Amino acid sequence: MKKSNSNFDPNWCSVGRAQCFIGNEWVAPISGATIELKNPSSGEVICNIARGGADDIDRAVDSANAALAREWGRLTAPERGRMMFRLGQLVLENTEQLARLEAIDVGKPLTQARADVLALARYMEFYGGAADKMHGTTIPYLDGYTVYTLREPHGVTGHIIPWNYPMQIIGRSVGAALAMGNATVLKPAEEACLTALAFADLAKQVGFPAGALNVVPGLGAEAGAALSVHPSVRHISFTGSVGVGKLIQSAAAQNVVPVTLELGGKSPQLVFDDADIAAALPFLVDAGIQNAGQTCSASSRILVQRGVYDEVLEKMAQRYSQLRVAPAMDDLDLGPLISARQKEIVESYLAKGADLETAAQGKIEDDVPIGGSYVKPTLFASVSPGHVLAQEEIFGPVQVVIPFSDEDEALAIANGTKYGLVASVWSANGARQMRLAKKLQSGQIFVNNYGAGGGVELPFGGTGLSGHGREKGFEALYGFSTLKTVATLHG
Ligand code: NAI
Ligand code: MG
Repeated sequence: MKKSNSNFDPNWCSVGRAQCFIGNEWVAPISGATIELKNPSSGEVICNIARGGADDIDRAVDSANAALAREWGRLTAPERGRMMFRLGQLVLENTEQLARLEAIDVGKPLTQARADVLALARYMEFYGGAADKMHGTTIPYLDGYTVYTLREPHGVTGHIIPWNYPMQIIGRSVGAALAMGNATVLKPAEEACLTALAFADLAKQVGFPAGALNVVPGLGAEAGAALSVHPSVRHISFTGSVGVGKLIQSAAAQNVVPVTLELGGKSPQLVFDDADIAAALPFLVDAGIQNAGQTCSASSRILVQRGVYDEVLEKMAQRYSQLRVAPAMDDLDLGPLISARQKEIVESYLAKGADLETAAQGKIEDDVPIGGSYVKPTLFASVSPGHVLAQEEIFGPVQVVIPFSDEDEALAIANGTKYGLVASVWSANGARQMRLAKKLQSGQIFVNNYGAGGGVELPFGGTGLSGHGREKGFEALYGFSTLKTVATLHG
């Protein structure tokens, strides 16, 4: 049996200190309390992290507020952008350390963790470059007036993120907020927060002024809840479960502040008889098993037209039977799930699929540590659209294949869940591509590809239970800023 923590250096970027990062200082949580952080590949404790509380959130918000009035608030947009570029560069220079940290902490195969480092760097480049390109407008008005708009930061923004893609979500959320000049307080997930801490340390190294970025690790019901109700927080972005998303929106309502909610989905891929099946195949499977299916934009429903149903199912099943599951550092197709709890959730769904046809399963390597949270990737066939496995987000490596007869039926099935995050259409018919792109209820549509996780430049977010607001791309910068209209009567 393998040891899985051997690559962890607690001193690198101070990640192993069980502290919060507030005002560019590493400080112990006021309560002194800590949480054990576990390696999902083995169940071993990696280190302790701070169990930040409401009083630590208060300190972090105060530090962010002070930053707005001091150096951070006085920087020009090009200066902020240049700083973000430097941070992106430092992230790239530390690719291997960051990737290993993410792999140990989240349990994701090293190659996937490396892709996340690259994405984080790209977010810093993209938003660094955008910082000085968000302009106001002048508005023709009554005689004797000059009217213009100013695009301004909200002030202090709160960022509550999950454990599945810490670096990517920090990039898209904190990155866009910093570019617009907000001062940020980040509450990473209690299951995985090491790269959030490292990121803060790297930001300090490139010269971010105190208070621009604060990180308070802790439990959702403690630090997370305190951040979401804090009266000085002017915008909250949240990625996570639907249930907590509702709590966040209610909390924000108390202070009448905007929220961006990204709550996952049940994203479909629609494969038509005229599709290029060979081109589709890698996307059909990979979009479901990437990060062991723990991806908000995972494609968990594969809708296949009857003319190619047998062929697609057979080829997907072949690929599934070759999938191998192992500790993150072994860098095979899948790592473990994030926790024993997540494994229980996924196994309970597999049990609910006992009545279904199992088309294929992947293989867990023989020598995986017994404390790791491993499940076999599983492909179910001939699933009816109303089945619980075709309706609810599982957040594990489980895909259902659903047959359909024609375009109308495919559309009804695709739109037939409460979610709407991503959808894709595989077809050579241009008119069909256009029709479905309009009619599918989803925040992103891919035609003859599937972009789970990718696309720093592409606005991203959901409809229905998948949430609201848009992150990524330029669009995020509107969400992380507010508009002021100035009307001057000069005669
Ligand atoms: P969660 O929604 O509880 O956790 C996400 C973040 O919210 C974490 O930082 C957590 O500490 C924080 N949080 C939890 N309770 C809070 C509260 N009362 N106030 C403020 N912040 C709070 O998600 P969890 O429990 O980790 O996973 C449960 C399910 O949620 C998964 O099985 C999956 O279906 C879904 N999920 C979706 C994600 C996505 O990317 N859209 C990411 C993570 C989970
Ligand atoms: Mg939770």
